[in-house]
Amino acid sequence: MDFEHLKPQISSLIEDSSTIEATLLDICKLLKSEISYYDWVGFYFKNGNKDELKLGPYAGAPTDHTIIPFGKGICGQVAVSNQNFVVPDVKAQDNYIACSINVKSEIVVPLFVDGKNIGQIDIDSNTTDPFTAADERFLEFVCNSVARLL
Ligand code: SME
Repeated sequence: MDFEHLKPQISSLIEDSSTIEATLLDICKLLKSEISYYDWVGFYFKNGNKDELKLGPYAGAPTDHTIIPFGKGICGQVAVSNQNFVVPDVKAQDNYIACSINVKSEIVVPLFVDGKNIGQIDIDSNTTDPFTAADERFLEFVCNSVARLL
């Protein structure tokens, strides 16, 4: 996957930002529509002072998991580890929260503002093992771009 052509589109969405919510939603829609193996794209953010994540804008099927405690699932683990988490095969994970039986793999990249992990971008894929280091670098670019708005 060549991500370079998407970077300027992400930057324009950020520069033309109306509201943060609308911009994040546009980014989710762009990634889901442009990258064939991105089947669900969403942002989670720390919910106030609570040790939990709250679902923000997303593109894809609605999920019941609008609140995820820190430490639970792939998302909750990234909230405490501050590290990217690439899951080639969700069936191999014990600490995983299933959103859909179609999902085969997942990638979660934390979003830092002033060095603090305040949320993350979460991608689910219906393909097994589709993510490479290029996805990580691209999603880090997306998170760093979004951080400028927050
Ligand atoms: N699978 C995630 C839960 C969020 S859904 O993918 C939208 C997890 O294990 O944290």
